[in-house]
Amino acid sequence: MKLVFRTMLITAAAAIAISGAYAQSAAIAKRKDILKGVGDATKPVAAMLKGEAPFDNAKAQKALATYASAAKELKGLFPADSKTGGDTAALPKIWDEKAKFDAIFDKLAADATAAAGAIKDEASLKANFGKVLGNCKACHDDYRAKKS
Ligand code: HEC
Repeated sequence: MKLVFRTMLITAAAAIAISGAYAQSAAIAKRKDILKGVGDATKPVAAMLKGEAPFDNAKAQKALATYASAAKELKGLFPADSKTGGDTAALPKIWDEKAKFDAIFDKLAADATAAAGAIKDEASLKANFGKVLGNCKACHDDYRAKKS
């Protein structure tokens, strides 16, 4: 009887451990997926900024809308138990400075919304889009592991 109870406890503990690990890797996979979408939405705009593609406001607006919604969602995808695993490039410093880190997402969303209203043509794209992208660099420089 005692043995059965112990087995049950061990099984329950293992189940909790597995579900915890799942929650952590799910957050990592989800944030990587969203950030990949952010990167994909940026590509056509980067080509426009380099003069390699004609101005297309629909693509610029789509990128900005993607940033604004991604920034809101991403703030919730760096839980304390997602520091490691899942091939994450997130640096541990994020969790030492979580408020500062989240503030860059807030700034990205605010800058993206402001730029969406300001961009109408190629000149206004060039004048306003760089500021939005500055948030990507600011965060990656401090909080993302460099690719080796
Ligand atoms: C507040 C911080 C922050 C901001 C702002 C931010 N990123 Fe990132 N980004 C990260 C972190 C952290 C990772 C690594 C995530 C991981 O591996 O768990 C990352 C990863 C990525 C990746 C790789 C995703 C993959 O496939 O694993 C791309 C692409 C990317 N970011 C693009 C962008 C672009 C473009 C912007 C701006 C529009 C941006 N990011 C803004 C923090 C940020």
